[in-house]
Amino acid sequence: MNYVDWLNYKDLEYRQGILYFANLNTLDIAEKYGTPIYVINEQMIRKRYKELKYMLNLVYKKNRIYFAVKSNTNLAILKILSSEGSYFDCSSTGEIYTCLKSGIPPDRIIYTGNMFTDQDFEFSVKQDILVNLDSFSQLKRLAKIYEKLEKEKILISFRYNPEFGAGHHPHTITTGKDIKFGILEHQMVKVYSKAKELGFKKFGIHQHIGSGIIEANDYEMPVEKFLIIIEKIIKELGIHFEFVDFGGGLGIPYHPETDPLDLNRYSDIVIKKFKESIENGEIGEPCIFIEPGRYISAESSILLTQVNTIKDNGFKLFAGIDAGFNTLIRPTLYGSYHHIIVCDERDKEENSKYDIVGPICESGDIFGKERVLPELSEGDYLTILDAGAYGFTMSSPYNSRPRPAEILINDGNTFKIREEETYDDLLRNQIVPDYLK
Ligand code: LLP
Repeated sequence: MNYVDWLNYKDLEYRQGILYFANLNTLDIAEKYGTPIYVINEQMIRKRYKELKYMLNLVYKKNRIYFAVKSNTNLAILKILSSEGSYFDCSSTGEIYTCLKSGIPPDRIIYTGNMFTDQDFEFSVKQDILVNLDSFSQLKRLAKIYEKLEKEKILISFRYNPEFGAGHHPHTITTGKDIKFGILEHQMVKVYSKAKELGFKKFGIHQHIGSGIIEANDYEMPVEKFLIIIEKIIKELGIHFEFVDFGGGLGIPYHPETDPLDLNRYSDIVIKKFKESIENGEIGEPCIFIEPGRYISAESSILLTQVNTIKDNGFKLFAGIDAGFNTLIRPTLYGSYHHIIVCDERDKEENSKYDIVGPICESGDIFGKERVLPELSEGDYLTILDAGAYGFTMSSPYNSRPRPAEILINDGNTFKIREEETYDDLLRNQIVPDYLK
């Protein structure tokens, strides 16, 4: 894909030297709302959701998309996805609470936590949320809570760890013997047999191999292993599965030289393989679930920021901006690449190499090293791409820097969907003991 097409793919385009996002002038947005600011494109969220839904429907109509809420918890985003018919994957009771507050019914939520507490179980059983367990040891505790709350034990699911995984960084690979997630092969029959014995009536099964997978082939081995274990459980225990959940992980092209994930290939490897097993009569006719977060939310959002300092230390050029790793931690935490471009390239002839750095009091506060950009001046605006997944949700008020606002664009209009934090927000929950007053 050439560079202009790659930008267009993300709904970005230069018109007479000014960067437009979702058909709006980024300079106007920056001037109107101030920076740093997250700007979210509603139509991009809808588009990516529809692409996945189309891919699934082509092969197997009994499908559901569970949006991985951890990638973006904004209530407006959840509403948008609800209106598309999405389901929701939560990793904590806080995420479940957020979904319920946004009006999502409990039967549209799956709770794939790990290291569950009894409080987590109580919360979800009370709300009739489907729990996807992560360890054999949790099963008895969950059953007890159903009994204590006098709720019928109906549907339960377990997360399988197929040992083959993938991801953009070691911290985002979620399978393997030395990884905390899921249940290894030798315990899988045992957990379902125990669940049956404890009175659960219906079953699902889940795996999530990692996050940020841009090569569809990486799904091949884990999916093969998954289908084998599913057959084995069915044969040995005579149960059938209501659903098979293949997790998320679908990557996006953060770098201009990376092509988008090949959805046809993903469909061949995951969805069609699943369909073949069904056609061979091996696994019944379960519903298929996938749990994408990043694929739906990442490209929907840019982070607008302003250059405040150009520093030539005699060795290299730094462009200091008003967003830091408190605002978007992915580059610092994983060394992730986020493309950075100017909002206004008019009257800029020369290029220079800059380290783009934030104001956080740590040397690791770097968004990009030696980025070639048109010559920058203090006051220029920059756009950091693909900030919609694990951007705001992983932000913090570190260095007592309040988190920024979020703006939604739809049909050429802008809506503030989150206020910027204030200094008072930073202090809100602190209590000074009387003796120190
Ligand atoms: N399902 C489960 C059970 C997960 O643990 C995750 C992500 C997903 C679905 C969604 O994965 P996605 O489709 O978004 O790749 N903070 C990291 C990513 C951590 C993902 C954790 N689990 C990052 O910024 O790259």
